[in-house]
Parts: sequence; C-alpha cells; structure tokens
Amino acid sequence: MKQVSLLAFTTLASSFILPQAEFFRDEPVDDSSGGAFLLSLERESASAQPVLNQAEADFHAQFGASRFEDDEDVAPLADHPGHGPPRHGHPRSNLTIYQFISQNNYTTKFAKLVDQHDSVVKLLNSTDANYTLFVPIDSAFEHIPPHHKDPSKELIEAFLRYHIAPGLFPFHHLLTRTKTLPTALDAPALDGRPQRLRVGLGLHPPGPQVNFFSRIVGGEPALANGIVYGVHRIVVPPLPARALFDLVPSQFSTLLLAYQRTDFDAVLSKAGIVRGSTIFAPTNGAFAALGPRANAFLFATEKGKKYLAALLKYQVVANETLYSDAFYGDDSSSSELPRRKRFHVDLPTLLDDKAVSVDVARFGAFVRVVVNGGVGVVVPDVVARDGVVQVVGRVPIPPHKHHRGREESLEGEISVEELKERLADYVEEDRQEEGLQGVDEGHFEDL
Ligand SMILES: *[C@@H]1O[C@H](CO)[C@@H](O)[C@H](O)[C@H]1NC(C)=O
Ligand SMILES: *[C@@H]1O[C@H](CO)[C@@H](O)[C@H](O)[C@H]1NC(C)=O
Ligand SMILES: *[C@@H]1O[C@H](CO)[C@@H](O)[C@H](O)[C@H]1NC(C)=O
Ligand SMILES: *[C@@H]1O[C@H](CO)[C@@H](O)[C@H](O)[C@H]1NC(C)=O
Ligand SMILES: *[C@@H]1O[C@H](CO)[C@@H](O)[C@H](O)[C@H]1NC(C)=O
Repeated sequence: MKQVSLLAFTTLASSFILPQAEFFRDEPVDDSSGGAFLLSLERESASAQPVLNQAEADFHAQFGASRFEDDEDVAPLADHPGHGPPRHGHPRSNLTIYQFISQNNYTTKFAKLVDQHDSVVKLLNSTDANYTLFVPIDSAFEHIPPHHKDPSKELIEAFLRYHIAPGLFPFHHLLTRTKTLPTALDAPALDGRPQRLRVGLGLHPPGPQVNFFSRIVGGEPALANGIVYGVHRIVVPPLPARALFDLVPSQFSTLLLAYQRTDFDAVLSKAGIVRGSTIFAPTNGAFAALGPRANAFLFATEKGKKYLAALLKYQVVANETLYSDAFYGDDSSSSELPRRKRFHVDLPTLLDDKAVSVDVARFGAFVRVVVNGGVGVVVPDVVARDGVVQVVGRVPIPPHKHHRGREESLEGEISVEELKERLADYVEEDRQEEGLQGVDEGHFEDL
C-alpha cells in the first residue's frame, strides 16, 4: 500500500523534477540570493557522485541510518511536533543537537559555521525547546566555488537558520505528513514569518528530499533537544518566485514568453507583493492544452495581449501565501492547516481582486490542491523567498459568470470566443465595445 502511493506520488513529481544537472544548467541568477552558489554546486555534483556515495556510506555507518528504515520502528517517537515519548530501544541521548554535531566526524563544517554565530549555538544547545536540524554533511560543502566562501555574517546566519526547524519532525512525519515546515529563518519578504522548507519524496533512492534536491542520508532521532538529519546538499534560502521560472525554462518558457509579451514584470513590481505571494504558475503543457486557436489569439494578436495579461494577473495572489499545509494571511497571521480536513479558501488575485477558489485535501502522504474546482496543482509548494509557487497543470480562467459555481471544465481546448467572454469584464477596451452592442440581462444580474 505504502509502496504504491509512494510511486504514484513520485511519478507525478518526477515529471517536474528533472535530473539536477539539467535542471540548474547555465542559468544566471542573482548572486546575493545564494542561487549561483546552488547552481555551481549542482553542476558539479555529477562528477562528485562517487565521493558522495562513499561519504554517505561512512555517514550511514556512523549515524546509523538503518534506524530509520522501518517506519514502524520510528513511529512511537512522537505524534505531534514537540510532544511524545522517546522511542523504546533508543533512549534519549544526553547530548544536545549542538554537542552532537560538534562531536560528529561528518558534520564538522556546519558545526564550525555554527560556532561563529552565538545565537545559533544557543538555539541548538538549549533544552528549552526542541528543534529538528537538517545538517549538511561535510561532503556537501566540497564544491562551493571560492568566491562564495566569504559571504556576510548575516547571510551565513540566515543560511544556518534555514536548516533548523523549531519542533520535532520525526522521520515518519517527513514520509507521510509533512509537506513544508517552518524554519528558524524569519523572512522579511514574508512579513517576518518563517521561511519554509519543502519536503517531498524522491525516487533515487526513495525517501524524503528537502527542497527537491537535498537528500536525507541519515539521522539521530533522540537527542536531548531534538532530532538531527544529515542531508547530502546544503540548502540555501530560496530565490524570489519570479526567478524560479528562469531556472526551469523546460517547464516555464511559455509563461516567460507571456510575461515578456505583456511586460508583466512591471505589473508585478507595481502590485506591492511585499508580504508573501502565491503564484499559480502554468507549465508549458498547461498553455498548450488551451489549444492552438486560443494560443494563437493570446500570443500572436495585438488584441490577445490584453487577455493574456488578464490571465497572468489571475494567477497571482499578493500578500497571501498558501502552502499545502500552511497559510500566511494578509493580516500577518500564519497558521498550519489541520490534517484530515479539507481546507477551502478564496484568494483575491491581481485581476481586479477576482478570487481564485482553492481546495486543499490531504490524505496520508498525498496532497491535492485544486483551483476553481478543476485545475490541479501538479507540483505543490515550490517555496520562494517572497512566497510560494503552486505549479498548475492547466491555465486557470475566471469562471463563467452564468455558472456561479466553481466548476472548471476538464476538457481540452477553449475557443477564442469563450476565452474572451470569460475575461471580458477585465479587459477594458472590450468592455466598452461590447457595451455598445447592448448587453444581455445575464450580465447585469451578476454585477
Ligand atoms: C545521561 O546522563 C545520566 C546522568 O547524568 C546518566 O545516568 C545516563 O546514563 C546518561 N545517558 C546517556 C544516554 O548517556
Ligand atoms: C572521529 O575521528 C577521530 C579522529 O580521526 C577518531 O579518533 C574518532 O574515533 C572518530 N569518532 C567517531 C565517533 O568515529
Ligand atoms: C551546551 O549545553 C551544556 C549543558 O546542556 C553546557 O554544559 C555546555 O557548556 C553548553 N555549550 C555551549 C557551547 O554553550
Ligand atoms: C522535547 O521533546 C521531548 C520528547 O518528545 C519531550 O519529552 C520534551 O519535553 C520536549 N522538550 C520541550 C522543551 O518541549
Ligand atoms: C500588499 O501589501 C502592501 C503593504 O501592506 C500594500 O501596499 C499593497 O497594496 C498590497 N497589495 C495588494 C495587491 O493588496
């Protein structure tokens, strides 16, 4: 049962998660974000694989990763982050997380950085609260280019904090329920709320990966103040949402073209997206599914440009960040979404505040996020510095005004007429033109 669900999930995910070398190849990124840092690391990772394999084998030997192999074995550790008795058979160690990584022969580099930041030492050595640390093993640091070895102290502290999650997140939670988890890094672009890590299942080997690429290779589940996982790559605080599209042209080149055609970056920068945003980003396939006529209209006619801009605005929610398991509201609030409950929210978009309606359902390891009743999120929770990207498999279009409901046709192409009709209220010139032709009463009933 578990095998089946794991495979279904990862097949879905792997259609997006390309081999990393491909994924991050030769795309220039803003240096200050740590993006370039990540890119170089990834580019070199293929040649470093044998070294990493050996390092991991050593790490397993020392950390005892086999302790994690059986989910049942770990299960009793805790039922909720922050509570629960230690697992039988493995008494809690007297060591704090700080002491553990300081003494461990495979985490010396991270430990050395921690030592230079008193506030982080305090966090990881205090028993006033529990933490879960994702510590990059030493080999994770091996391929950082020289000019990135001296970032500012603040940047390093942010980097360290992004590896620390307040609370206890036992391994079986990472496998079965955790989608994103808050870290000890409070992000200005999220209005001071925690930057989150994404945990998803990878195939090779099967198991949780942090932010798509950093694999958990072992861990120590019962320290005096929490849990330590070893990860095989450093995890840098994420890029701004907009920059993520440039990284993955194989999925987003149509979206990028649409941004370019409508000068959408100017729209975004004017929108005041300063407290976290949610972007429902359609893949190339999603645009293609609109059909050749709609695409020709949107991308090759002067008139279509305005409609394209309206579609893009309908994909962006300013100042509200919806992860599949947490919600950062417009009012600076943040809440974790309850498990085993459906969550529904209407989020106002940049398209005249017209709302997208979003349903989130979670069952076990699965999460299903659906926009307007029918547009599925195919890759949830791509965390960004200033919000989150939910990758959608179809282009969300404002619902038909005669259907008050939220249902969205799942069939393929859309005609140019229907597209125009559904967007007419938001595209200025056409509203005037159509006004002249006499408007049917149905139009007014809804206003
Ligand atoms: C922890 O410390 C106590 C006393 O300080 C000792 O009795 C116990 O054996 C220690 N446990 C471990 C796992 O080292
Ligand atoms: C760590 O390395 C040192 C020196 O190489 C060695 O003496 C020590 O036993 C190692 N510690 C562990 C836990 O393997
Ligand atoms: C870490 O905490 C222990 C007590 O749990 C204390 O003895 C030790 O001095 C602390 N280390 C640092 C570096 O603060
Ligand atoms: C940390 O977790 C352990 C095990 O669940 C629990 O016994 C302990 O009370 C927790 N500590 C704090 C400060 O919450
Ligand atoms: C987002 O919040 C900022 C700051 O409160 C505000 O200036 C801006 O207008 C908001 N944007 C939208 C689209 O609500």
